[in-house]
Amino acid sequence: MARAGGKVILFGEHGVVYGRPALAAGLSTGATAELVSEPGVLATARLSVEPWGVTVDAIAPDAGAVSAAPVDTSQLAQAFGAIVHAYEKPPALHVRVRMELPSGAGLGGSAALSVAIVRAFDEALGIERTPSEVADIALRAERVFHGNPSGVDTAMAAAGGVAVYRKGQPLAPVFVKKPIILVVGHSGEPGMTKETVASVARQHAQRPDKVEQIFAGMEAIVNNGKSALERGDLDSLGQLMELNQKLLVTLVLSTPRLEEMCTVAVKAGALGAKLTGGGGGSCMIALVSDAESGRTVREALEKLGREAFVALV
Ligand code: MEV
Repeated sequence: MARAGGKVILFGEHGVVYGRPALAAGLSTGATAELVSEPGVLATARLSVEPWGVTVDAIAPDAGAVSAAPVDTSQLAQAFGAIVHAYEKPPALHVRVRMELPSGAGLGGSAALSVAIVRAFDEALGIERTPSEVADIALRAERVFHGNPSGVDTAMAAAGGVAVYRKGQPLAPVFVKKPIILVVGHSGEPGMTKETVASVARQHAQRPDKVEQIFAGMEAIVNNGKSALERGDLDSLGQLMELNQKLLVTLVLSTPRLEEMCTVAVKAGALGAKLTGGGGGSCMIALVSDAESGRTVREALEKLGREAFVALV
């Protein structure tokens, strides 16, 4: 049995695709993987995903174009194939994965899926790797799911904890002085990371100076956010979340529903709120001062008809 967690991005999503830093926190929920066949039984590797009720055989990485739907089976087969063919001798094993996070929620579910698969294979084959080597293999699958991923999701799924990630650099763990409590709310709108990353790429191509200026602002927020975490300064963290959200809005990454959820969360006592991950739907996070405030904010989001849960970082 192997497992990997999802993540929330506290600060810096999208800028991280362009080499800027992002600050992320691992979630304890994610994906678990177990092998259900012995070597030699199958001709090719097989993947079953619960609760999606989907089983696919691995497709070679050069097998052609795939569609963009999050649980598109040909896409899943190709992502799985990208992992299987990263092995010198592609393992013909059947792996069953149980997803604990919704797909397309911006919470790193697909990265957790990929990392859990790599870990299950490695365990069966007696291969030992560092978290960053595991993340590198999982990133091949993320490229199929997301087109141009920065690698933050796979790095966090493989390492967990709280860390600053910058493309091409080792994950830098952050010392968090006080545990922080987040309320994670799902807008109910499907996540579209591939599309929102492509939309930012179009804006970057048209107005590189403007977009780089926004990313520079996000980088400053990441740096200040890191030191606020190290100081245990929740008020500053909340303000930085509000600022980060404003920058994400200027890149047209929020939606009226996410905006409403952030406003309601702050009115209910949250210290700050923002979307997390790709945007264009999916999830928002709200920082709260204690467990009781977490309950109040969760209930306020649920009153809006949104699903929400409380996560401890
Ligand atoms: C990652 O969860 C969200 C984005 O920053 C894309 C990426 O880093 O690959 C938007």
